[in-house]
Amino acid sequence: MVKFLVEGQRTLCGRVSINGAKNSALKLMVAALLGQGSFRLENVPSITDVETMAGVLRALGVRLHFASGCLQLEVSSVAGQTPEALVKSMRASVQVMGPLLARLGRVEVARPGGCNIGSRPLDIHLAGFEQMGATIEVKDDRFVARAPRLHGADITFRYPSVGATENIMMAATMAKGETIIRNAAREPEIVDIQGFLNGMGAKIQGAGTSVITIQGVGELGATDFSVVPDRIEAGTYLLAFLTTGGSGTVENVVPEHMAPLLGLLASMGAGVEVGEGEVSVVSPRRLKPFEASTGPYPEFPTDLQPQMVALATQAQGQSKLKEAVFDRRFGYTHELGKLGARITPNTSAVTIEGITSLYGTDLVAGDLRGGAAIVLAALAAEGQSTIFGVEHIDRGYEAMETQLTSLGAKIVRIAE
Ligand code: UD1
Repeated sequence: MVKFLVEGQRTLCGRVSINGAKNSALKLMVAALLGQGSFRLENVPSITDVETMAGVLRALGVRLHFASGCLQLEVSSVAGQTPEALVKSMRASVQVMGPLLARLGRVEVARPGGCNIGSRPLDIHLAGFEQMGATIEVKDDRFVARAPRLHGADITFRYPSVGATENIMMAATMAKGETIIRNAAREPEIVDIQGFLNGMGAKIQGAGTSVITIQGVGELGATDFSVVPDRIEAGTYLLAFLTTGGSGTVENVVPEHMAPLLGLLASMGAGVEVGEGEVSVVSPRRLKPFEASTGPYPEFPTDLQPQMVALATQAQGQSKLKEAVFDRRFGYTHELGKLGARITPNTSAVTIEGITSLYGTDLVAGDLRGGAAIVLAALAAEGQSTIFGVEHIDRGYEAMETQLTSLGAKIVRIAE
């Protein structure tokens, strides 16, 4: 069991360098299953989700070596089973479906797990595969998809799902003919996977817009690629500065990817300065409250919703944040309440009354981003907090306590 001990009410200041995006690195790793040869992925975060995905790939015959942010993959033949325990522990492993279906004509995966933040069905992925000629069977919580040869299709998503966009893009790279995805997700991670697959020899265009076109090709090779900076990690540290009344800079970021967050922070009165590849924030004397809603990119990201709520506890007045992407993403608010936060969640929105004085206590992180919000609130609280469930935080943040310590926080990791 791993826990954090946090001594709160230290003002965070300084500069922090941001890693490559978890949600891109994981998908680029699976996309390599479509190719052949040696890959070199730079800017890969050292987080447990990457280790888990490495385990999935190893089981399928891929050789991997990871050191100092550089992941090398050797892909020759791909065979074997996707390990059930690993797939169940991580949502992103459902992304092996597209590449394995394209490459092997058959794939069987356990219904995936991941953060406990909503029902997360897979109907958009599965309907897309079916339109491309696959048959899908659901057997005892496992999906079995078969397609001797996928063919192109004109697919309109009922919702711009990130995972389904990536899965269908990957499946279509080697399908017969042209595939068009309409109402596709537009996240920067989608642009990354297009660049990576095209580097392998795929013919994809349109990523970053809502229509993506893929011309199927006969085979794919290997490529070198650098993962896009993690806009969620960057946003979390900007919110950490402001939640503790501090100021600081995140480096190695793409500021445009953070526009909705930066706009919201400026509207709260925070000083926001955008430089080349970096963003700085300065706390105002008083933070103003806000009203906002999450949504698919380029709207405010759901993965920063909990951390934004932590900040709202320190704003003067009533803030409201609507959660429009997932249907059960307020579990962490109960923990913030233990610190003294005044938050009222209903099914799709939270209301936060600020400013509240927070007091350290025992807390439990139940999911990745909720866990980050709990850390931020504990940093702002008077006295000591113990945060259990740090495994959830380690899934997506590289050495969070080291980064926070370098910014002036008092936080230590205790592994029992
Ligand atoms: C990805 C990210 C996650 C982020 C989310 C939204 C990874 C590993 N995870 O998750 O961190 O919060 O994007 O930005 O990249 N849906 C369906 N049917 C489907 C697929 C999705 O109803 O077949 C629903 C989901 O339940 C959810 C919404 O669509 O309510 C968004 O899901 P999606 O965009 O697919 O998110 P993920 O790819 O799972």
